[in-house]
Amino acid sequence: MNILLLGSGGREHALAWKMQQSPQCNKLFIAPGNAGTASIGFNVNINPNDFNTQKQFCLENKIDMVVVGPEEPLVNGIYDFYTNDAELNNLIVVAPSKKAAQLEGSKSFSKHFMQRHQIPTAAYAEFTLENFDEGKKYINNHSLPIVLKADGLAAGKGVIICETTEKALLTFEEMIVKKQFGTASTKVVVEEFLQGIELSVFVVTNGKNYKIIGHAKDYKRIGEGDTGLNTGGMGCVTPIPFADTNFMQKVEEKIIVPTIQGLQKENLTYNGFIFFGLMNNNGNPFVIEYNCRLGDPETEVVLPRLKTDLLTLFTAMYNNTLADITIEYHDGSFATIMAVSGGYPQEYEKNKKIIGLEKMEKNIATHIFHAGTKFDAEGNILTNGGRVLAITAQAATLQGAVEKSKNILQAISFEGMYFRKDIGYEFF
Ligand code: AMP
Ligand code: GLY
Repeated sequence: MNILLLGSGGREHALAWKMQQSPQCNKLFIAPGNAGTASIGFNVNINPNDFNTQKQFCLENKIDMVVVGPEEPLVNGIYDFYTNDAELNNLIVVAPSKKAAQLEGSKSFSKHFMQRHQIPTAAYAEFTLENFDEGKKYINNHSLPIVLKADGLAAGKGVIICETTEKALLTFEEMIVKKQFGTASTKVVVEEFLQGIELSVFVVTNGKNYKIIGHAKDYKRIGEGDTGLNTGGMGCVTPIPFADTNFMQKVEEKIIVPTIQGLQKENLTYNGFIFFGLMNNNGNPFVIEYNCRLGDPETEVVLPRLKTDLLTLFTAMYNNTLADITIEYHDGSFATIMAVSGGYPQEYEKNKKIIGLEKMEKNIATHIFHAGTKFDAEGNILTNGGRVLAITAQAATLQGAVEKSKNILQAISFEGMYFRKDIGYEFF
């Protein structure tokens, strides 16, 4: 199969690395990719949201399958674009329909969906400018902390946890009246704060059957001890001790099965990943959010742990034979730690030369996944984003995997480089 993979982060490098191992993989193109994906397939300079240019490319290069990394093309309707086009509708597109992608694209849509299908989630209410005063009353009477969420996509910044009513009222006004996130915050979901430990669970589904392909704990805050600003994710570990058979059974029964049945009942076409962002609240799973894609950096541990061939899974999804597939995992534990640019998640500089990579690439049981990287004219690898490299390691224990990843990071450097040294801390 010839494959077009869309995206340019660590998630896409890991996806490219995994798909390239499949005997079914012929040519692999990554649009736009990064310096890491260039060593696996062919980077092509096409924007993941530019469907018309992709069409041209797919036809010229006899593409059989399109795999979508980030959420924006999903929410913009990439699945509908390909399936509604007579020249493209024989391609396998690993994505949900535009309507189903609202599970990620609209917090309000996903909360209503969960309510309709009795899927455990935080209690909530939603408000716009029209019932703004009612919203203020709701916030005034609500327990603390309280969580405010912009309805639409806000590049991971649209969720604000408020410790005081004053902060909540101010945030509420900024979102709705001052349009802090543009049209994404025209509507705001106000919800109860759930205590517990988070877990990301990943499923491949065609809306009828599903397979769990892994799970991971993500560390979202910039600072050690989970302090400071939220980021896209600073590191991940898998497997997680509390995600045992008993807990995962609850996740399937209370969350995954009702979600898949909900897709079916509502005729929502789905051919791709569901990322269940869960909270383990005293042993009971609640949905914090749905995403319609893989997580980043979760993918950088989930795919190295997954033994099962990913392209076999995608074709089974497409042919409705997922039930015949057995998911297998590699032994041991996996950790990934993100090296980020100084200043991230706020302002940071790019174009810093990365040193030490060439020595590391052949290390056993480790992977250097590139996120924000690019080549300069001389072939040096430069930083090109906030999150720069995800260093994944495998070992017998979670702690061993984290130590291994940290050791590799000691040998890599770029100006301003920072990484968290406490990834996985609560499980050691
Ligand atoms: P999201 O953008 O939906 O991933 O939310 C960002 C983060 O906010 C989540 O990963 C959680 O850490 C936190 N969060 C969101 N909703 C809640 C909630 N109801 N209770 C506690 N934490 C939450
Ligand atoms: N690491 C969390 C996400 O990809 O949304």
